[in-house]
Formats: sequence, structure tokens, C-alpha cells
Amino acid sequence: MSSLRVSAPLLDAYLSYFEHKRLPFTIPGHKQRASRIDADLGLVVDSDTPLYGGLDEIKLSNHVLKRAEALAATLWGADYARFSTGGSTHANQAIILALGKPGDKVALSRTAHRSVLSALVLAGLEPIWLSPEIDAATGVPIGIPVSEFEKIIDQKPIALLLTEPGYLGTLSDLPALIESAHAHAIPVIVDAAWGGHFGFSSLVPKHCLALGADALITSTHKALPGYSASALLIAQGKYLNLDRIEQSFETTHTTSPAGAPLASIDGCRALLQTRGQELISQLVEDVAAFKKEVQSHFDLPIFLNPSDFPVDRFDSTKIVLRANQLGANGVAIEKALQSQFIRVEMADSDTVVFLATLADSKVEFDALAEVLIPILKEELSAARKTATSLSWSVTPSVALSMRDAYFAETEMVAAAQAVGRISADLIAPYPPGVAVVAPGELLTKVIIEGLAATKAAGVRIAYATDPTLASYRVVKS
Ligand SMILES: Cc1ncc(COP(=O)(O)O)c(C=O)c1O
Repeated sequence: MSSLRVSAPLLDAYLSYFEHKRLPFTIPGHKQRASRIDADLGLVVDSDTPLYGGLDEIKLSNHVLKRAEALAATLWGADYARFSTGGSTHANQAIILALGKPGDKVALSRTAHRSVLSALVLAGLEPIWLSPEIDAATGVPIGIPVSEFEKIIDQKPIALLLTEPGYLGTLSDLPALIESAHAHAIPVIVDAAWGGHFGFSSLVPKHCLALGADALITSTHKALPGYSASALLIAQGKYLNLDRIEQSFETTHTTSPAGAPLASIDGCRALLQTRGQELISQLVEDVAAFKKEVQSHFDLPIFLNPSDFPVDRFDSTKIVLRANQLGANGVAIEKALQSQFIRVEMADSDTVVFLATLADSKVEFDALAEVLIPILKEELSAARKTATSLSWSVTPSVALSMRDAYFAETEMVAAAQAVGRISADLIAPYPPGVAVVAPGELLTKVIIEGLAATKAAGVRIAYATDPTLASYRVVKS
């Protein structure tokens, strides 16, 4: 254990597991010695150990997970915390299943990730969609206006579900939304998949629980240096039933959680607790210096910056390149970077998103700038207006409940014949995984032509039954 670190029960248990000789007659079947029978397989599995019979005894008698989760709850100032090995996808499912009963309605940001929509189908909840406001200057969604939420309160949503920060780093006016929801005793659940670092440095926005929200879901493998698919679900008991959340968390989680993702969540928590302020502030400074250096080669503003938005409404660790300001195509920039082994988190024609985390330093930003600047100079052309991405601009037209459409009999029809039909698929450019059409919604000309154009521009269109988009899966008429 590093002498600088505060106690991290799961991380310590993971490290000490491998210090002892063992003779397991239990799962996992690789028994940490698969390399005996296949060296390559062994490379992948021999450092794996589960929670049950690994980080803790099979009967969890040492309460290692419970102790680690309690430390996380305390750090975020909450009543309850759970660690998931199933990503924010699972954490979203767990909380949504615990909210109400089939037929209940929830107010939901249209920028929600597909995992939230799938969870609504599972839980039988129906969405009341809330559209984000689009910033006129930059063309990006800047959150749900309070007025958008207040105009649907009479439809009696049982919860308000938000995605904060959004994929491009912007945030709603959370204190105002939370105050409005709580005035009607409506709990506020925030999918903060990309905001795990929030609240641990004065240079990034506060986390949503500190602003009064009732639940926070975050992927510790996104903005934080956690293991793939590790995630945290943190909640307050005032407006939410924590016993129900516990039950639905267990209902939907694997019964054999891997130890490494759990230990990494514990390690991320300890890191934030001891060095969050220092590391996140350094990251913000490094990101600002990187943007300044790249920007100095161009006239028009080419990045989203905190100064573009009201205070605390933008994640200052975010690097979002506005390719349209350069007259360039974001997907072409992505390809040019890829040819030099640099991967980006997301690219569409107008935008390229680079994910910067605590694992980056000036060395990586300098290396990126060195490759990026010549590419951008090469791609430079006349600036064009932002064509707001399809994911942010479609106004959904609901014809059938999402759950009914999901379970309905369906058929495939050619794209030209699909206009006016009810989609059975959720279809989303990925990233960001935000639905352009959800099950039960009408396929319009704007959607079908927009999806074809987005695909032709080089963006991956996910979850369509026919990925070529030549045909669509629709509800049988
Ligand atoms: C807003 C949001 N929520 C949830 C998820 C799902 O997270 P995970 O991949 O950890 O399951 C994502 C993934 O990109 C996301 O962007």
C-alpha cells in the first residue's frame, strides 16, 4: 500500500490477495493459473480475483465492500453508496427500477444516454421529454431550462432525470432545477457519468449532491482513472427509498462481481479524498495551457471555453474542438489523428471531443498539440455556421409508449417507406449515444435524412437493426 494513501479496504484487499499462496476449489475457473494451460489466456485472467472468496470471504464476513462503500458515501456527503462493475448503465437501471411502478411518468432530459431509456423500458416508466436549450453562439446544448421542467409538472412526474454534465461538458442551472423539483417533492436523479471529478477542486463545478440532488450516478472509468465499466451510485434518503434501491441494485447486478473494478472505485475515492484538489486543479491548468497554445495559431475561437457559458455551467477539464470554426470536418481530423495513433472520444462533422483525465499531464498535451496543430492548419478552410448535431435538435413525436413499442410485433421497411412509421429501435449516433429516435416515436423525413447524412459524414450510427440504414425496424401496422 502506498504510504501517501488513506485507507482503501477493497484496494488493499486486492493487493494482499496475491501475496498469499492459495488452493481454490471455487470460481473463478481460471484459479489465477490459466497460463499453465494457455499462456495468452493466462495473461488476461491470472490477475483477476472476484469479490466473493477473493477480496472478501465467500460469506463477505469481513464487510470489505460495505466499508469501502461507506467511505464513498461519506466523501460525497450522502446516505448511501454502491459500487458497480456494470458501468453507469447498470447504476442507471438500478435507480430507475427503484423509482415507481409501471405506468408512472418521469421527466427526462432528451440528452439522456440510451442506458436510461432502456432502464425505463425495463421499469415500465414513461418519459416526459425535456428539450435542452441550444446556445445560439456555439450551437451546443446547455441544459434543461427550469421553465421546460415547470411546464410539465402538472403531468405529475415521479422523478426528474437529468444528464449532467452533458457530453460536451455543459450543465443545466442545477440549483434552480433542484429547488423547483423539491418544491413538489420530486426527487432529482443525475446521470453524471462524465462528472466523477466534480466537487473535488474549486476549478470544476460542484457535484450535484452538494447542490441538493437526490442521486448521482458516475462512471469511474470515464473522468476518473478507474477500471473499465466501474461505476458509482450514490443517493440520499430524503425523497428516495434506499431499501428499494438496494433491492433493485442487487436484482440487476452480477452475482459474481470482479474484484479489480471494485478495488479501482475504492482507489479512485481514496485518490479524490487525498489529492483531488491538487490533481484536478493541475489538470484544469494543463488543459487551459493546451487550448491556449493550439488557439494561438488560429483567429476564430476553436474550443468551447468556460467563458462561453454562465459560471459553473461548463466542465473546465473538457476539450471540445469546434471544427466548423476552422471550416474543417471533425471526422477528417479524427482520421488524421488516428493515422498517428491518437484516438479521440468522439468526432462528428462540427465537433471533436478529447477526453482529458487525471492520468494526463503536460507531456501528453504537448504531444497532442504537436500533432494536432499541423493537422488543423492542413484542414483550415472558410468557417461555417454550426449545424446543431442531430442528437440535440430532433423534437420527438411520441406515437406509442416506449415499452409497448419495445415489445410490439415489428417489421423491416425500406428507408423511403419508413417515414411516418413508428420506430421499434432506439437509434443514436455513438458517441454520444443520445437517441435521435426512441421506440414508439415517429420516424420523420428529418430523422431519416439526418441519420443518413450523419452516417455519410463518417459518424457511427448505433443500435439500428439495419446498420446500413437502408431499412428500419418499425411497429407492424
Ligand atoms: C451520460 C451517460 N450515461 C451513462 C453511460 C453509460 O456508462 P457506462 O459505459 O459506464 O455503462 C454513458 C456512456 O457513454 C453516458 O455517456
